[in-house]
Amino acid sequence: MKPFDRLLLENKAWAHEMTEHDPGFFQRMSQAQTPEFLWIGCSDSRVPAEQITASEPGTIFVHRNIANLVVTTDMNVLSVLQYAVDVLHVKHIIVCGHYGCGGVMAALNKQQPQIILANKWLKHIKDIYRLHRVELDLLPLPEAKLDRLVELNVIEQVHNLAHTSIIQKAWRSEQRPELHGWVYGLDDGIIKELISLNADSPMDPLYQYDFS
Ligand code: CO
Repeated sequence: MKPFDRLLLENKAWAHEMTEHDPGFFQRMSQAQTPEFLWIGCSDSRVPAEQITASEPGTIFVHRNIANLVVTTDMNVLSVLQYAVDVLHVKHIIVCGHYGCGGVMAALNKQQPQIILANKWLKHIKDIYRLHRVELDLLPLPEAKLDRLVELNVIEQVHNLAHTSIIQKAWRSEQRPELHGWVYGLDDGIIKELISLNADSPMDPLYQYDFS
């Protein structure tokens, strides 16, 4: 059996099992989605949003990219964000990074010729490193430096969300969503909370929109 045939076979078994367990499940799923959460995570195969939070289909609207970045000129993440906030009315947005992130690790090194496109994407993390260089360069071990940059990257991405007009508008009119920055441990499966921002959180005036 080819590896992808196994995926298709597993899918049939899964659909069968779900129907056995809950005969109305797919009927309900086919009607509409009302997820309470938007998840912005890393594309890393070891950090699947639903599995690590034991969430059923329909619970989390998911966007994943290399190193869980919220680049405010990226039409992909902005489209997902706007749909999640303005149409799905999610209550929470979670940016979830993970320790040992290859994207963050790559950003700590010189530009690599074999990832000429990803270099441009990862440049955003180099900028975060530059912003926190004093703190990061004090850390003696390369692993500690990577772990801390992973955390700082998550925190920065949560602020990037807060700096969008989409979030500021929703905060002003509906006092939601709450923004969360989390980091996942590949070695223990545990999620740690790093930051939480809501409509009442202070914001640098440089990034504030004036909607009046
Ligand atoms: Co990663």
